[in-house]
Amino acid sequence: MAKNVRDSWGSRLGIIMAVTGSAVGLGNFLRFPVQAAKNGGGAFMIPYFIALLLVGIPLMWVEWSIGRYGGGFEHSSAPGVFHSLWQKNRFIKYFGVIGIFGPLVIMIYYTYIESWTLAYSFFSLTQKYAGITDQISMQSFLRGFQGLEKNQYFSSIGTAYIFFLVTFSVNITVLNYGIRGGIERFCKIAVPVLFIFGIILLVRVFSLGVVDLSKPDWNISNGLGYLWNPDFSQLKSAKVWLAATGQIFFTLSVGIGVILTYASYLKKGDDVALSGLTAVSMNEMAEVVLGASIVIPAAFVFFGPIAIGDIANSGAFNLGFVTMPLVLGQMPFSEIFGFLWFGLLFLAGVTSSVSLAQPAIAFLEDEFNISRKQSVLLFGIVTFVMCNAAIFFLSKGVVDELDFWGGTFCLVLFATIEVILFGWIFGINKAWEEVHHGADMRLPRIYKHIIKYVTPTFLLIILGAWFFQEWLPIIRMDNVSLVNRPYVIATRVGLCLIFIVLAVLVNIAWRKRKIKGRRV
Ligand code: ALA
Repeated sequence: MAKNVRDSWGSRLGIIMAVTGSAVGLGNFLRFPVQAAKNGGGAFMIPYFIALLLVGIPLMWVEWSIGRYGGGFEHSSAPGVFHSLWQKNRFIKYFGVIGIFGPLVIMIYYTYIESWTLAYSFFSLTQKYAGITDQISMQSFLRGFQGLEKNQYFSSIGTAYIFFLVTFSVNITVLNYGIRGGIERFCKIAVPVLFIFGIILLVRVFSLGVVDLSKPDWNISNGLGYLWNPDFSQLKSAKVWLAATGQIFFTLSVGIGVILTYASYLKKGDDVALSGLTAVSMNEMAEVVLGASIVIPAAFVFFGPIAIGDIANSGAFNLGFVTMPLVLGQMPFSEIFGFLWFGLLFLAGVTSSVSLAQPAIAFLEDEFNISRKQSVLLFGIVTFVMCNAAIFFLSKGVVDELDFWGGTFCLVLFATIEVILFGWIFGINKAWEEVHHGADMRLPRIYKHIIKYVTPTFLLIILGAWFFQEWLPIIRMDNVSLVNRPYVIATRVGLCLIFIVLAVLVNIAWRKRKIKGRRV
């Protein structure tokens, strides 16, 4: 059978937009403001920037470099990329399974949440929630939409399901057109558009005056102060450091396995150093400038300093789908601003979710020589079935469970493996050369030591801290209610099965390769 022709990026701008699209997601606009507000406001930014410099940026360079290196051996997913880096080791490819498993697990719930943003942009334009002016009713609107209760707004989960089907189809369509024709083309439009939407919202929020004249303190500068005034006492808490590091992983999409897949479609002489740094900078602009300036300050102006604490603590979904519609609903042209907000989230979501799907698709294409269209079809059928678990068991703790294993634990584990593999097994001198091959900038020399010593140590400490503080309670499901435990156990069994199936597929692929190798 003829070998698939490898896809590639059409331009440098294309891959930078695609990596930026992968990084800029729901995490920038919903997760970040909540994490910052909950963990000491301005004080959160100190561990945040330390984690960015010592973990985020080095991992970005590592993933771009190992991806491009593995691509030279025609591998675009972590098992093959890891194998190219350590060819003598028979087991390393199985560690790479995490780089397909993790994004797949995130994709299962991420696409569903993404579909809410599409639905809400439609509801904004059609003014479906326009008459709702209080938190309780808006929460009830959201719960009705999610199918968690029947009420005057929704009688079933049907509407949410239709929007999920549309969102899922948008993702599959983009993926079906491939790297250059699908992902690159989509991101080159979606990323600038979402930045424009974000800037319009930022200007609108910054021009909010005092809404209630009897409360002059409820203004935008105090709203910004709420998020940015440092509470240094928080720095003593390990939790704040863990939260900041976790946010860096999630927001940059590093440690997931997706950046290395995107980078594998580069050519050997393409730059990775400056391009990687550019993608980080674009993401940070979206997060620190736009993400931090829209939701919390706007909510402060409308709800004031007392209520904002509860709002920030009520979590990202509440902030995005309850508080923001209420805030935007009180502005003139609320339907347009609501559309911009949810449209921004939708575009940010799709550019991230297609990147989460790509490692599994690339694995089927490269290791089993299945055509692009067939790989996408197979992937679509399998993930569609899995997404239904997130949709119908949302209230049973399934999404939290998927988020913990796919969106938190696997990220740190995978990042630790890849940075040790690159800095120690592949060797830091070769690694340094690899990063600089075709590079348009030289990395500060200190990063040679950071990549070799500091990043792995930082990651090992985090893994160790988790292990000691959280391992047993998590395994024992201490924080899961008795009613939800069967669902959480079922999710865990399902996740183990997915992992085993992927590991068996890796085994089969490498055996086939060996037999073919012998015949040649
Ligand atoms: N990096 C993506 C986000 O921030 C996953 O949502």
